[in-house]
Amino acid sequence: AENKPLSGTKIIVTAGPTREKVDPVRFLTNHSSGKMGYAIAGEAAKLGADVTLVSGPVSLCPPEGLETVLVESAEDMFQAVSGLFEEADVVIKTAAVADYRPKHVFDHKIKKQEGGQVLELERTKDILLELGKRKTHQLLIGFAAETDNVEKYARKKLDKKNADMIVANDVKQEGAGFGTETNIVTIFKRNGDMLSLPLMSKQEVARHLLSEIISELKKDDGK
Ligand code: PMT
Repeated sequence: AENKPLSGTKIIVTAGPTREKVDPVRFLTNHSSGKMGYAIAGEAAKLGADVTLVSGPVSLCPPEGLETVLVESAEDMFQAVSGLFEEADVVIKTAAVADYRPKHVFDHKIKKQEGGQVLELERTKDILLELGKRKTHQLLIGFAAETDNVEKYARKKLDKKNADMIVANDVKQEGAGFGTETNIVTIFKRNGDMLSLPLMSKQEVARHLLSEIISELKKDDGK
């Protein structure tokens, strides 16, 4: 259909931060508000896609017309996405997933004491990397939040994670990245192409990204 170019397409979108427990009252997290991922999920649903939004803890209302799975930690997000991956056509990893979590989760509140305190961390699973290894037919899109050398790191991620596109945002730029209503992104593709978008609302970024995805899907159809 003309105005529903994504009907019949199964899309997973991840959004928001993760929370990594330290003890019953504390956790490690980041500034992701979920706005970027929720905008993508909402726009994809409007274009007819069958969307599952896998979201970390945010204060947004889930968009209409799609299924939302709420998760907390990087491990929870990994489990949720893994279970849905095989059936998916497109995966868009907008979530700001923790790279580290506390090695031990205390079952009691850590009491303050004299002097400093050391918290030992261990790596979480890199979900994007894992999906890149398992990928069969899926179009895999990652995000990259960088503060310097945006292009170099984005292209590196594209390669290392076997992704089809990386959407890079320089989170040091005014109006881009975490928490804002707007974003400034550059989309890097596997064939070397790149598309730099000016400052625009996250909803508009979502529309541009989805139109790139629609052209990629059309190419695949032609194979
Ligand atoms: O939520 P908002 O407030 O709207 O902000 C949007 C955003 C800044 C969070 C978003 O635009 C963004 O850049 N998301 C990716 C943030 C991030 O964690 O980037 P990264 O460079 O650390 O990770 C690269 C990619 O690997 C991401 O697709 C991420 O989802 C994925 N990843 C990272 C770590 C991990 N353990 N598993 C992953 O899958």
